[in-house]
Amino acid sequence: MDRLPFIFGKSTDFVNFTDRDEDTAQLIRNFKSQINTTIISPRRWGKTSLVEKVATQLMAENSDIKVCMLDIFNVRSEEEFYEHFAREVLKATANKWEEMAANAREFLSQLLPKISFSPDSQAEISFGVEWSALQKNPDDILNLPETIAKAKNIRVIVCIDEFQSVGDYADSLAFQRKLRSHWQHHHHVAYCLYGSKRHMLLDIFSNAAMPFYKFGDIMFLQKISNKNWGEFVRKRFKDTGKKIALKDAEYLAQRVDNHSYYVQQLAQQAWLRTETNCSAEIVDDALQGIKNQLSLLFVNQIESMTATQINFLKAVLNNETAFTSQENLQKYRLGTSANLKRIKEALSAREIIDIQNNVVEILDPIFKLWLKEEYFKK
Ligand SMILES: Nc1ncnc2c1ncn2[C@@H]1O[C@H](COP(=O)(O)OP(=O)(O)OP(=O)(O)O)[C@@H](O)[C@H]1O
Ligand SMILES: [Mg+2]
Repeated sequence: MDRLPFIFGKSTDFVNFTDRDEDTAQLIRNFKSQINTTIISPRRWGKTSLVEKVATQLMAENSDIKVCMLDIFNVRSEEEFYEHFAREVLKATANKWEEMAANAREFLSQLLPKISFSPDSQAEISFGVEWSALQKNPDDILNLPETIAKAKNIRVIVCIDEFQSVGDYADSLAFQRKLRSHWQHHHHVAYCLYGSKRHMLLDIFSNAAMPFYKFGDIMFLQKISNKNWGEFVRKRFKDTGKKIALKDAEYLAQRVDNHSYYVQQLAQQAWLRTETNCSAEIVDDALQGIKNQLSLLFVNQIESMTATQINFLKAVLNNETAFTSQENLQKYRLGTSANLKRIKEALSAREIIDIQNNVVEILDPIFKLWLKEEYFKK
């Protein structure tokens, strides 16, 4: 079977990647000139896809640049971080596993590293020293990219996805201080640290009291424009022998607020329902299908919220902005204005809403539609 056009749920491949020319150019410039970069955007707008694309392009064009990508979503402690970090840096900077093992012995000798292979031939690394010794002296590991870069005359870009996770480690501040104090002396390495929890990340990177303050550029990734999505969707249909009018392709993207993941998902569902010509009706039908599929999830989400949190979402959907006015506090039963602050914080922390310049946005466009068209209609 031919591969489906439109991909969601994993970072995109080249044919499914669109736009982001300026972001790409900026990242390449930063990486080449060793400028550390933080990327922040809500879930599923396209951070990972962008960084992976830039990494591939950069390595294809520059044989002396190695990009090391690590995702620390599931890395729950400082100790695990060191193992993960060492392993990925070693992997990214070696061509064969023998070279990787040799590098480990050469550059991490004091830690008595042992490399083993799991059945799916993933390399694992462990250290022969006690955790307490490692914790006190993680220099060799934290300096590993710089040490290898110098020794091999290459440049290394270390990209760490879901970086906000470090905020949850025991004694996180001390840990962040260690990272910063090592990494700021690296001249052959650039760091790209990214994730979706705006509040946690902003606290890490733009709070003057925090170790990572002014570590580098902060990029707020924006949504891909409706115009661009329209052209992209139309072209992908055309390339695979089907048709969609530009206005319908734009309508498709607009129905899901131009949200990257959902545009791809909706386009795929509409494509599957299309014999030769896709119409707005088919798009609506596909959207209804996705909404139905997700409704159970949304019910669970609603059940885990307090009554005032739900009331607040209703006010947001009604495009209210003056939440603290007596009228709205009463009309939507939001409690006191002090309460309102807590509601906003709780919903932001759960990534249900995002607040920028005092404008509140419900982040998941399908959840938003479901609330409007099903939940609050009853
Ligand atoms: N530049 C792009 N062009 C086309 N589709 C894209 C692009 N970026 C992202 N997407 C779509 O959005 C989906 C989510 O992208 P990605 O996983 O890169 O987002 P993310 O911001 O890293 O999300 P998360 O916060 O969940 O890690 C992709 O699977 C793909 O369908
Ligand atoms: Mg991601």
